[in-house]
Amino acid sequence: MRKSQFSITAQGIALMRAMEFEKPEGARICNDSLAGKFIDPFFYWFGKCFAGLAERRSPGVIGFMTARCRYMDDFLNESLAGGIAQLVILGAGLDSRAYRFGELKGRVRVFEVDHPATQSAKIGRVIKIFGNAPDHVTYVPIDFNAEDLQKLISAGYNPAKKTLFIWEGVTPYLTAEAVDRTLAFVAHNSVPGSSVVFDYIYAAALSAKEKRGEIKRMERARRVTGEGLTFGIDQGKIGEFLRARGFDRIVDITSEDLHAKYFTGANRARAIAPIYAIAQATVAGN
Ligand SMILES: C[S@@+](CC[C@H](N)C(=O)[O-])C[C@H]1O[C@@H](n2cnc3c(N)ncnc32)[C@H](O)[C@@H]1O
Repeated sequence: MRKSQFSITAQGIALMRAMEFEKPEGARICNDSLAGKFIDPFFYWFGKCFAGLAERRSPGVIGFMTARCRYMDDFLNESLAGGIAQLVILGAGLDSRAYRFGELKGRVRVFEVDHPATQSAKIGRVIKIFGNAPDHVTYVPIDFNAEDLQKLISAGYNPAKKTLFIWEGVTPYLTAEAVDRTLAFVAHNSVPGSSVVFDYIYAAALSAKEKRGEIKRMERARRVTGEGLTFGIDQGKIGEFLRARGFDRIVDITSEDLHAKYFTGANRARAIAPIYAIAQATVAGN
């Protein structure tokens, strides 16, 4: 990530969610009613002009992003029913959950963790949309590649409270050390029963001789975005990976699982890219 650059990928993903929300209710995979408000109007207009082309050149990437958002929303709902007291959104970008899930206010402290430049742009947008930053949300600027999450504790995070960590669309952009450091913080500073949900890319997709179009384009775009794909996990190895890092009750959700779960009715024929997956896990007890 460039020090002073508002993440372009964060804006692109919010754009996908906003476009999904323009569809009729029954045809949407995810329901981010606020995404459109977080995007700069010119970026929105410009991005929409190219979304069809992006889908034709990289079929299923948008499908994965919308299904990922829906899965993580569903998991947040389950976690709220299970009594979490804290929600930590890692690499929050333009994630709107803190403002969209009304039941968080007064009940759950939300920590949005992100790269400083992106976070400061996000706060500006929150103030523009809502008039002020809501008092149940704490913003914690961190560079995952250079720091651990200790700053969360000084910001008021309580390791003794049951917590959900959402890490959406971030691990592919980090170093392996940053991913390990962040998971180690979660495993060692959260009460057992706390959970993490994140998505990842299969390592083979990054190292393939013949890379898929979206990977090649992300590599080329790095000159502009400063956000390169650097980290993947071997397909089928997530259980091993997370158990070794202090987690249990590990669930690996593949693109096929997401398709079967959400792509019904009008979305039955919609593509979902096969190189990504979602992992969900719980901090193991002693
Ligand atoms: C693809 S966006 C995803 C944003 C958001 N989670 C979502 O799904 O809409 C990637 C996010 O990761 C953050 N990020 C990337 N590298 C980072 C780093 N080294 N430290 C902190 N945040 C980082 C970016 O600032 C951006 O918000």
